[in-house]
Amino acid sequence: QSSHRINIAIDGPAGAGKSTVARLVANALQYVYVDTGAMYRAVTAIALERGLSSDNAPEIGRLANELEIELLPGEDGQRVLADGEDVTGRLRSLEVNRNVSAVAAIESVRRKMADLQRRMADAKGVVMDGRDIGTHVLPNAELKVFLTASPRERAERRYKELGDNPGITLDQLKLDIAERDRKDQEREFAPLLQAPDARYLDSTGRSIDEIADQIVEWGRSAVRTI
Ligand code: DC
Repeated sequence: QSSHRINIAIDGPAGAGKSTVARLVANALQYVYVDTGAMYRAVTAIALERGLSSDNAPEIGRLANELEIELLPGEDGQRVLADGEDVTGRLRSLEVNRNVSAVAAIESVRRKMADLQRRMADAKGVVMDGRDIGTHVLPNAELKVFLTASPRERAERRYKELGDNPGITLDQLKLDIAERDRKDQEREFAPLLQAPDARYLDSTGRSIDEIADQIVEWGRSAVRTI
């Protein structure tokens, strides 16, 4: 194990396999995994529970600034605490899926989250997944990956995530994902974009392990060059 540690940024559209891959990479390198999407989801879930509409930028901005968000490594993945309460189980609902892009487009929300994320990466040794990590949050990350997959495969992955009662058809989910990608790409502040120095990886038809191994290898070689 090298004493040098780097930061790894993994960006890409919804359902590309980022979180599974990032977790595997973090385990292999004994790094800390940070799922930034979960942070935007936590703000969204709490906002909806408080009856705020996702286009109410001033109120949601205030909420994001007051809310204390913590990420804890847990038995089966990362747990998310909002003001000390575990909200992990409430982050993947259809309701949150449909509103999170609007919440994530609010500049004050993004500024607050990016701040927290940079602090988490201060000590290095972080694998962070999101949309703007390589371009905006950690522009100096030693390894940047832009991970994608075909729209069909991405929709199928998200469909499985919704469990036995998805409450939506696969076709509708595909439309929802396309809509979310569009909003993430077209937003003014820190949109989803491949960083010029990011490595492009298409996971369509490839196993998650294969993709993770590739990133671990890039990570190890990046460590050797610092
Ligand atoms: O990766 P995910 O599906 O959990 O992300 C949820 C939403 O949060 C997604 O629509 C875009 C937004 N997001 C973002 O804008 N920036 C990030 N760094 C991570 C997620």
